[in-house]
Amino acid sequence: MTSGPKAAIAERLDEARQRTLELIEPLDDTQLNRVYSEILSPLAWDLGHIANFEELWLVQTIGGREPLHGDLGRLYDAIENPRRTRGELPILRDAELRAYLADVRERTLEVLEEVEIGPEVEDPLLRDGFVYELLLAHELQHNETMLQLLQMVDASESPRDAGHRSPGQMPVQLDRHFEYPPVRAMPRVPETVRINGGSFEIGATAQGFAYDNERPRHRVELNAFEIDRTPVSNGAYAEFVEDRGAEPPMYWKRDGEGWIRTAMGRREPLDLTEPVVHVSWHEADAFARWAGKRLPTEHEWEAARPHLDGVGSVWEWTSSDFLAYPGFEAYPYREYSEPFFGDTYKVLRGGSWATHPSVMRPSFRNWDLPERRQIFSGIRCARDA
Ligand SMILES: [Fe+2]
Repeated sequence: MTSGPKAAIAERLDEARQRTLELIEPLDDTQLNRVYSEILSPLAWDLGHIANFEELWLVQTIGGREPLHGDLGRLYDAIENPRRTRGELPILRDAELRAYLADVRERTLEVLEEVEIGPEVEDPLLRDGFVYELLLAHELQHNETMLQLLQMVDASESPRDAGHRSPGQMPVQLDRHFEYPPVRAMPRVPETVRINGGSFEIGATAQGFAYDNERPRHRVELNAFEIDRTPVSNGAYAEFVEDRGAEPPMYWKRDGEGWIRTAMGRREPLDLTEPVVHVSWHEADAFARWAGKRLPTEHEWEAARPHLDGVGSVWEWTSSDFLAYPGFEAYPYREYSEPFFGDTYKVLRGGSWATHPSVMRPSFRNWDLPERRQIFSGIRCARDA
């Protein structure tokens, strides 16, 4: 496999895996198995789940092979096993877990040699390599979930990290892939962009990789609105916290008159010009009201996307519930989006410093519970024009 689309896929699979392994490189098995939070899986579960999802789709489904470990897959089913239970499961651990990741990958590459992946292929899973794009996106998205958990790991516990602080004070290996701290300074009083009312196309086109919930592309009518050019800064949020006595964001601690960041067990001064991160939807909504504004709808966000700065520093909460687009069809499996549709989850748009650029499509819809703050979530405000 030296050139062509298959070689490109193999290379991207390898790149995603390098990223996964670099995230856990400074950690020992105890840290991989530890439950740090009820709402996040132990890293060992994420790793086994990444490999198992790959085995299910790239080895069993399209390669017709039997699974390596019988019905192990049950333990890695995200819906059957809520996050708070994952630390107790008889999942693969330590050397066995690492061997499983490698063995699955070896079989994946064998199957890749055998299958047809061109644009004319009849099986929609293989057409244009859809199932490989799905797998890549899955692993890269789990990298972000792992980074959420890594915020809770005291970095000084990591033996290999000692004495290797990067300027952003993340463990040194993270700097190879992530720009941190979030990229640019946010003004205290942001400029706004006016978007004239009219008809806008929303969602992913039928071509290229996208998740089922981003389709079909459809038109929506929007009234004129204004939206901030930049996400809300730590400084602006600190004023809100003082003024309203609101709960500070996760990983903020008071230090005299000011604030420090405590993620990864560290104590560093909070940069007031960076975008605020780790706020819940309720907090984002309250901030927007306090500022005399509101959160944008996800349609407004997508319509304004070509004019927005600072996308990709923090996920941006929208006022929208996670709902199916008109004409939605579940693909390639019902459980990816459909069980989450309704008024329980709120949509976030954009992407964060921890999100791989290939995941940051303008049509990409992230969703989470409105009380969640462990995600890299921030705020951008809008108002009626
Ligand atoms: Fe997953």
